[in-house]
Amino acid sequence: MIKNDLFLRALKGETVERPPVWMMRQAGRYLPDFMKLKEKYDFFTRCRTPELATEITVMPIEQVGTDAAILFSDILVVPQAMQIEVEMKPGVGPWLPNPIRSAKDVENVVVPNVQEELGYVMDAIKMTKSALNNEVPLIGFAGSPWTIMCYAVQGQGSKNFDKAKQFCFQEPEAAHALLQKITDTTIAYLKEKVKAGVDAVQVFDSWGGMLSPVDYQEFSWQYIQQIIDALKEQVPVIAFGKGCWFALDKMSKSGASALGVDWTCSPQNARKLSGGNITLQGNFDPSRLFSSPREIKTMVNEMINAFGKDKYVANLGHGILPNIPVENAQAFVDAVKEWQPQ
Ligand code: CP3
Repeated sequence: MIKNDLFLRALKGETVERPPVWMMRQAGRYLPDFMKLKEKYDFFTRCRTPELATEITVMPIEQVGTDAAILFSDILVVPQAMQIEVEMKPGVGPWLPNPIRSAKDVENVVVPNVQEELGYVMDAIKMTKSALNNEVPLIGFAGSPWTIMCYAVQGQGSKNFDKAKQFCFQEPEAAHALLQKITDTTIAYLKEKVKAGVDAVQVFDSWGGMLSPVDYQEFSWQYIQQIIDALKEQVPVIAFGKGCWFALDKMSKSGASALGVDWTCSPQNARKLSGGNITLQGNFDPSRLFSSPREIKTMVNEMINAFGKDKYVANLGHGILPNIPVENAQAFVDAVKEWQPQ
């Protein structure tokens, strides 16, 4: 049904002519057309207006030719739907004026009807699917419960999310109650996304690497596992944990279709730690897109040869940076498409 199904085949572990390629956070950011829209509409207006979300989602497909689209939205629409106020302050990033700091605060957090609160996301998915015209698959996503909790408790971005960790270690019961509420909401949300038409889902655990291996299992992984269990029969699930190489063994036995890897873990180590059978996705250092297109091409070839062409999705190791020249992003995508077996 989908004309370019390289990405879906790689997620199934099938043999492919070349690895598929997309870039985390590819929708917008570094694209001049996105900057123009950004001047006119604030962030959550862009997320809440299906026409705008659709336009931004298809931009990288038309302009740099990635093999999959990722819906323009944000992981923080989930806490918003749970009645936690979230603003996006230009130049600052996420800003939550009333962070969760006590068991009482957790009690007041709502597990919403996602159809009602996040219907605009489903409308954006339907509109995007129709605009994509089955050319490439559409990825839906959510933040991991731990990563969402980081923002909900800290109240803003942070280098170490110390307040979120403090909450976990001082009030573990309340922390787990909050994580479970976020998990229940996320499962309902992703199931709706699947119904609306996404072809795969990715869980972003951007701040999983803040936790020790033992704490990671307790405060992050067990909740991601619940999400995978609930979704895996319906759609391929990709689990991306930034800085979570230590958990790759456990993750590889979870039922996820693929695991995201960042650039601090070599392809060889990632294959070894994940047992060699599961599809891996990554792991080009996003800052390496500042290198020249020629160097990018060389490094992309080395990366593909190290991961191997099969059971592999070429990607960055984290989101693309806003100030990357478009021609360098293009060089990255082209290099994957032009890769030849040795
Ligand atoms: O490819 C895409 O861009 C798809 C949509 C997407 C956005 N955010 C749009 C966005 C996705 C997949 C995300 C995920 C997201 N959001 C994560 C997980 C991935 C990661 O990068 O770690 C996180 C932690 C967030 C929270 C968030 N949203 C932050 C920290 C910020 C501000 C800083 C930044 O990275 O720009 C945002 C804002 C945001 N989300 C922007 C975009 C395009 C930039 C703000 C704007 O355009 O006005």
